[in-house]
Amino acid sequence: MKGSITIRGARVVLPHGTANAEVAVSEGKIVAIGKKLPLAGEEINADGLVLIPGVIDPQVHFRDPGLTHKEDLHTGSCAAAAGGVTSFLEMPNNNPPIVTAELMAEKKRNAAKKCVVNYNFFIGATPHNLEELNRVENVCGIKIFMGSSTGDLLVSEEKDLERIFCNGSRLIAVHAEDEHIMKENERLLSGINDVAIHPKIRDEAAALSATELAVKLSLKYKRRLHILHMTTEEETLLLRRLPQDNKISAEVCPQHFILSAPECYEKLGTRAQMNPPLRTERHGHALWKGLQDGVIDCIATDHAPHTLAEKDVPYGQAPSGMPGVETSLPLMLNRVNEDRCSLQDVVHWMCEAPARLYRMKNKGSIEVGMDADLVLIDLNMKKTVTNGKLFTKVNWSPYHGMELQGWPVRTIVNGQTVFLDGKINEEVRGREIQING
Ligand code: DOR
Repeated sequence: MKGSITIRGARVVLPHGTANAEVAVSEGKIVAIGKKLPLAGEEINADGLVLIPGVIDPQVHFRDPGLTHKEDLHTGSCAAAAGGVTSFLEMPNNNPPIVTAELMAEKKRNAAKKCVVNYNFFIGATPHNLEELNRVENVCGIKIFMGSSTGDLLVSEEKDLERIFCNGSRLIAVHAEDEHIMKENERLLSGINDVAIHPKIRDEAAALSATELAVKLSLKYKRRLHILHMTTEEETLLLRRLPQDNKISAEVCPQHFILSAPECYEKLGTRAQMNPPLRTERHGHALWKGLQDGVIDCIATDHAPHTLAEKDVPYGQAPSGMPGVETSLPLMLNRVNEDRCSLQDVVHWMCEAPARLYRMKNKGSIEVGMDADLVLIDLNMKKTVTNGKLFTKVNWSPYHGMELQGWPVRTIVNGQTVFLDGKINEEVRGREIQING
């Protein structure tokens, strides 16, 4: 049948364990999982490979509209596909920022034309756009920058935050850094132009204070809250003390437990500058532990591309952010090979949990009836991350020179192969992810 594939020979990561099974796909859906399935359509021989659900990256910045010299929805989605990411949730700090239903509709029309993987978007909060936040349809959530970062979206005052938390029911995702603490630190440390002070300006107290405020408002108004890219041990301790019936989730980025200060700043200079910042190993250990015992729910990359020309300038002039959508799965598969976690853990953190938290329809697991977003991985493949050989438009990575074992070799989006043996099929188009509520 047209549009049908049968994947044979793979070890398959299913919701409750792995099995040697065949997976049949028709018209973009998984239609059968079992042994000796009848041949229908194209047969994919996956001997020696592992089949996992497509990765969902719940936090990327693809710069479209406005800053498309860094990335656009097409190049960003190609980088995603090459990294085994079949769905992404993208941030509103564009130019113009996506703060109205009209701008959101325009962005989705653009995405439908350009994206090779599935997509949905956050609407950005301002102190004045409450009506838009609740009027816009089928978005993954409301993004609040509690502290300023790239772009000019900012809601730093408690009264404005309170108004957003107490009106509506859509998930709120916060960039939790306290603007007032950071401004004061900036004043105290002014004149020092060394990137090593970045985590001192955007310090632990700033992160904790903002997370405490967001948590307080979520508990008060019983509002769904997601804490984006958490970075401190102190925040993990706060989450450990929450009452049972909370509506709060949290994510971590690989760079916050793989790279650490001060070495990252010595080695990478301003390329290591991001918000919230890379911190010392103490925090990395606590974040990894939090992920392993379920205090942190999922992994996102905060893929935030800036060109090397923009990054390699003195601290104070360089923008914050680093790319990551293409390397997050290999980094985690490398950890599986190092015996630090299981493949089931990785699938839980990168596929099942984001689908569940964001209430995505038919995504996140390999089950009959789910969308056929699938990735074949080769756990034995070794490759070195190399600047200039990536799909992201900025073509650099903070992991340049690092050899990783475990790579995606084929990425399938809605039943269509979009990435195979290092090449993208540019004809494939992703779909808007449906969000239930
Ligand atoms: O480092 C960052 N870069 N953190 C953010 O919150 C935004 C991002 C960007 O868009 O560049």
